[in-house]
Amino acid sequence: MQVQNNLKAYNTFGINVNCNEIYFINSVEEIPSIFEKCKGSNTLILGGGSNVLFTKDIFQGNVIVNRIKGFEIIPNNDETSFIKAGSGEVWHEFVLNCIDHDLGGLENLSLIPGSVGASPMQNIGAYGVEIKDVFESLEAFHIETGEIHTFSKEACKFGYRESVFKRALKNQYIITSVTFKLTRKNHKLNTSYGVIEAELAQMGVTQPTIKDVSNAVIAIRSSKLPDPKKIGNAGSFFKNPVVESSLLDKIKLTHPNCPSYPATEGHVKLAAGWLIEQCGWKGKTIKDYYGVHKLQALVLVNYGGATGSEIYDLSTNIIEDVKNTFGVELEREVNMIL
Ligand code: FAD
Ligand code: EPU
Repeated sequence: MQVQNNLKAYNTFGINVNCNEIYFINSVEEIPSIFEKCKGSNTLILGGGSNVLFTKDIFQGNVIVNRIKGFEIIPNNDETSFIKAGSGEVWHEFVLNCIDHDLGGLENLSLIPGSVGASPMQNIGAYGVEIKDVFESLEAFHIETGEIHTFSKEACKFGYRESVFKRALKNQYIITSVTFKLTRKNHKLNTSYGVIEAELAQMGVTQPTIKDVSNAVIAIRSSKLPDPKKIGNAGSFFKNPVVESSLLDKIKLTHPNCPSYPATEGHVKLAAGWLIEQCGWKGKTIKDYYGVHKLQALVLVNYGGATGSEIYDLSTNIIEDVKNTFGVELEREVNMIL
């Protein structure tokens, strides 16, 4: 049997990288035997590969691609239901499935690439909603003991693009299922983002349903984010930085239009895309085959043939430039795979 070990099709940046071997899992029961085979070597679990950057041409280890399926509706009360999804479900298909069942709460998170199982990793968010808002619990396989552990929302320690699985419990668990609590009626729509309201108006919708909000989000995202099937990317490469309000005051002396959003007391969140654009990076192409997206300066792109280290070095140059210009330290959002 030929060993499959090229990861180009399994990371949305389209980085051409080899590993020892790729394994595919379709059920929780298969996990222990695969870990037995991988014993002693580095092992990486991937869903859709849409939030990783392989920084080297070879990944020294094995990769497990998660395809654990499942969609179960568990009635809770008159108002809400629990939805338990297999972690290898494709996120956007899962969201559409919930909407088809008239279950509300995930519509603002339509069209985010990747898997259900990776969604708690960085508490995915878009247009005013994060999964923590509808998250109930998750089950995860503990690699060291082989036990399945259940995590409540509190135990996941969700923050902005953060969870315990990115920090204290990094590389210790494989998330096998995620349960959400969604509304069955009286859906609470979140159209607070001006662009959603504008899109709904454009669509001629005055009494939006969860399907309308999903369609609006899909239209907005499609208009400015590159489709990874056509242009390699991993979405926002950096987080929006949270800084002390005094730093914003300083920036405003030279850049009075600097956008900012409320954060914890004494702090503000800045728009990393704006900072990067001001430094002249937006739309920049390097060596004809990689660079910064022309419509969204937060998104680094691989037009084909870029190595992980080229993209990584570009991100380092951007971080340095933003630091020198504004005194703001950008942090990478995408997971660096060494
Ligand atoms: P992968 O890239 O496969 O993995 C990401 C990390 O999670 C890795 O460290 C991996 O080891 C780990 N992991 C994956 N599955 C598991 C598991 N089952 N158990 C334990 N660890 C696991 N993100 C947002 O938050 N908001 C957005 O609006 C958004 N927009 C995007 C737009 C585009 C065009 C792209 C390409 C990406 C975007 N992203 C966004 C980022 C990305 O889609 C999300 O982070 C998504 O949840 C990643 O899912 P994945 O299955 O592809 O994860
Ligand atoms: N902006 C610019 N130039 C740019 C890009 C952005 O000036 O090239 C400024 C504008 O002022 C704009 C503001 O930044 O009003 C915010 O831009 P946008 O609404 O496009 O959102 P974002 O902050 O760039 C964040 C998330 C996205 C998420 C969108 C929508 C992060 C790191 N990114 O992007 O998430 O989809 O909001 O909610 O928080 C991801 O995490 O991969 C991702 C795509």
